[in-house]
Amino acid sequence: MQDFDGSIRACKSMAELERVRVEVFGKKGFLTTAFAELKSLEGDKKKEQAAKLNALRDTLSELIEEKKSQLEQAEIDVAMRASAVDVSMFKQNSQAGALHPVMAVMDKIIEYFISQNFALETGPLIEDDFHNFEALNLPSYHPARDMQDTFYLKDFRVLRTHTSPVQIRTMLSQKPPIRMIAPGTVFRRDFDLTHTPMFHQVEGLVVQGAAEVSFSNLKHMLEGFLKHMFGDIRVRFRPSFFPFTEPSAEADISCIFCGGDGCRVCKHTGWLEVLGCGVVDPNVFKAVGYKDVSGYAFGLGVERFAMLLHRVPDLRSLFEGDLRLLEQFR
Ligand code: DAH
Repeated sequence: MQDFDGSIRACKSMAELERVRVEVFGKKGFLTTAFAELKSLEGDKKKEQAAKLNALRDTLSELIEEKKSQLEQAEIDVAMRASAVDVSMFKQNSQAGALHPVMAVMDKIIEYFISQNFALETGPLIEDDFHNFEALNLPSYHPARDMQDTFYLKDFRVLRTHTSPVQIRTMLSQKPPIRMIAPGTVFRRDFDLTHTPMFHQVEGLVVQGAAEVSFSNLKHMLEGFLKHMFGDIRVRFRPSFFPFTEPSAEADISCIFCGGDGCRVCKHTGWLEVLGCGVVDPNVFKAVGYKDVSGYAFGLGVERFAMLLHRVPDLRSLFEGDLRLLEQFR
């Protein structure tokens, strides 16, 4: 008789083991044949042979089961070893990531306003006509609604063109006093040297009781902020227009490149425009149902701040992910 015990023990893979199993238990296997041949025996001889075969069957199937679990365990070990992660593999000089300069500047802005007791608010990137325009006193004939500037979606919805709708959402869901900033992504149909279709703004809003806040509070607060960001600069406020503020202004800082003498960056004016602001228009308060309040608001472009602070000449380079630029900000 063949040495099946030995063959099973010698198996090195599941496939080999299966081959031996078929040799023993298969349709034409040794045991199957041997059991069939019992028919030709009689009496005690038959009994004796049957007992022998039964014992052999039990031993061999036990051996096969045992071998099978050994081989399975070995397969698991091999797979685990192959997929193991060697944490010591990281090299000493592997490159650490870093915040993108736009995000780093955004964080610096947020940190300043948090230190001045402003709360952080957010809103959806997909806005409706009411929050993005109507409630902000932007009537349907206003040029900012032009198809040129706004990404329109279905059902009067838009990709928000500014962070100002967060003012509306915050006023609708909270009661005054309000002191908030809203940093976030905004979208416009614009693409050239100084415009990208997606960019970032930080919005600010302060609302208190009637006659409690004025333009001078706004000026004082923004001067502190701009000096924190740009260092020893002068700030001026130029009359401007925004539908959601009245009066409105744009804040300029003395040129950080030439100190105000005039250069190419400030177009020889000595000043750099950095943000829009104003006293909240009564129509905005009306739209959110606020009465007997006063407030101011401001909004700024984070990329503009980053370009000035880091002297990046082309806005588009902030979006290209070029490592030669990004590595300078690690
Ligand atoms: N929403 C304006 C824009 O995107 C920026 C702005 C200007 C926001 C004046 C304000 C503000 O809150 O008072 O151009």
